[in-house]
Amino acid sequence: KNRAAGSKNLRVKLVLLGDSGVGKSCIVLRFVRGQFDPTSKVTVGASFLSQTIVLQDSTTVKFEIWDTAGQERYAALAPLYYRGAAVAVVVYDITNSDSFAKAKYWVKELQKHGRSDIILALVGNKADLQEERKVSVQDGTEYAEKNGLFFIETSAKTADNINELFEEILSDCY
Ligand code: GTP
Ligand code: MG
Repeated sequence: KNRAAGSKNLRVKLVLLGDSGVGKSCIVLRFVRGQFDPTSKVTVGASFLSQTIVLQDSTTVKFEIWDTAGQERYAALAPLYYRGAAVAVVVYDITNSDSFAKAKYWVKELQKHGRSDIILALVGNKADLQEERKVSVQDGTEYAEKNGLFFIETSAKTADNINELFEEILSDCY
């Protein structure tokens, strides 16, 4: 197939960080395969997936996704995955305040040790669990605004805002 004039092939290295159980692997599975796994297993080390998106002008964007392990024992590995990443998606669970505190920790670490031009997205996942909410939308919004991050609440379970998350990231990449 002929490519439209001006179309390109882009690669975007993206890393997901956040506490164990917040839904990082489920967000990736939803984005890449359109599926949800209620019995999702804890990630060991990290896992790699890619997803290519074709834009209207035939430009292709390949997301190279590093889905890291949130368990504390793997924390020392994180720099291996966020070093060189163009985009970091920091995830917390809206029903878990500790996970929001951990997200703030990751944002600070990325601002200190990540690429100086890194694109940071803060994601409050499990937005389908409104009755169990512990972190308000305002808490997320205010923190993101103060720190210059993109913010969105998602549900990997219902697919709510998952495509919007990646579309927003994409629009920041060029
Ligand atoms: P680690 O790999 O240990 O870092 O955890 P993780 O962040 O990858 O969590 P994972 O994606 O494995 O999800 C953990 C649990 O939360 C699983 O039981 C999922 O089914 C559930 N879960 C993930 N996303 C959602 C969501 O949006 N809504 C609800 N209700 N449950 C979710
Ligand atoms: Mg995982």
